[in-house]
Amino acid sequence: MPKHEKSQERYQIEEKPDEKELKAREVLSTFSNKFSFGRVTIKNVGALRVLNSTCLPVHYRNWFYDGIFDREEKYARIVSFNDILVGGVVFNKDDVSSYYIMSFSVLKQFRRCKIGTYLMNYVLNVAKDDPAIKRIHLNVHVINKSAIDFYMNAFGFVQKKRIEKYYKTLKPSSCYELEKEITH
Ligand SMILES: CC(C)(COP(=O)(O)OP(=O)(O)OC[C@H]1O[C@@H](n2cnc3c(N)ncnc32)[C@H](O)[C@@H]1OP(=O)(O)O)[C@@H](O)C(=O)NCCC(=O)NCCS
Repeated sequence: MPKHEKSQERYQIEEKPDEKELKAREVLSTFSNKFSFGRVTIKNVGALRVLNSTCLPVHYRNWFYDGIFDREEKYARIVSFNDILVGGVVFNKDDVSSYYIMSFSVLKQFRRCKIGTYLMNYVLNVAKDDPAIKRIHLNVHVINKSAIDFYMNAFGFVQKKRIEKYYKTLKPSSCYELEKEITH
């Protein structure tokens, strides 16, 4: 198989992205046309693991990555640039009416060029397609200012509460629970 086809097989998700997906991708096309978008597969899950361990202060174990394949594939998304995985989100339906964002990462060198915006718009689009979903929520370390700015300023998440002793291995150990309501 020619190299470019192999790469498409690795990263491409659906043959025909719908209108909302195309719109979500538009934000990135301003920066480059070398981005591609995909689902998490057995072939790229290792790269997602490396990305998350590079970007996040907490490390996820095997069950986290295995769990991606127990759920519908729409609950995880990656962005690659020239075959390098540069962004990824993993989320899940944690009760009948809410989604929980489990991990959200963009490679440092690629930040502030709207990869996070694409990924969040992807999650919002999935949520909007599910009439039962009323909110999206997540936990963020209290000192993670850039992520808090991203969620609250760029996407209108609000702070629901501060949870003390949330992280076993981080100091401070507190997180904020942030939430965004979904209107259909
Ligand atoms: C948070 C994160 C995912 C944002 O990804 P990103 O691709 O850089 O975000 P975008 O380029 O889409 O930014 C969209 C907007 O969010 C806000 N924002 C993003 N990063 C910001 C920062 N460091 N400081 C202030 N505002 C920021 C800005 O309003 C930005 O718009 P602008 O660049 O036009 O000003 C990224 O910084 C990251 O991976 N951080 C490390 C991992 C992490 O903390 N994940 C969250 C765990 S809960």
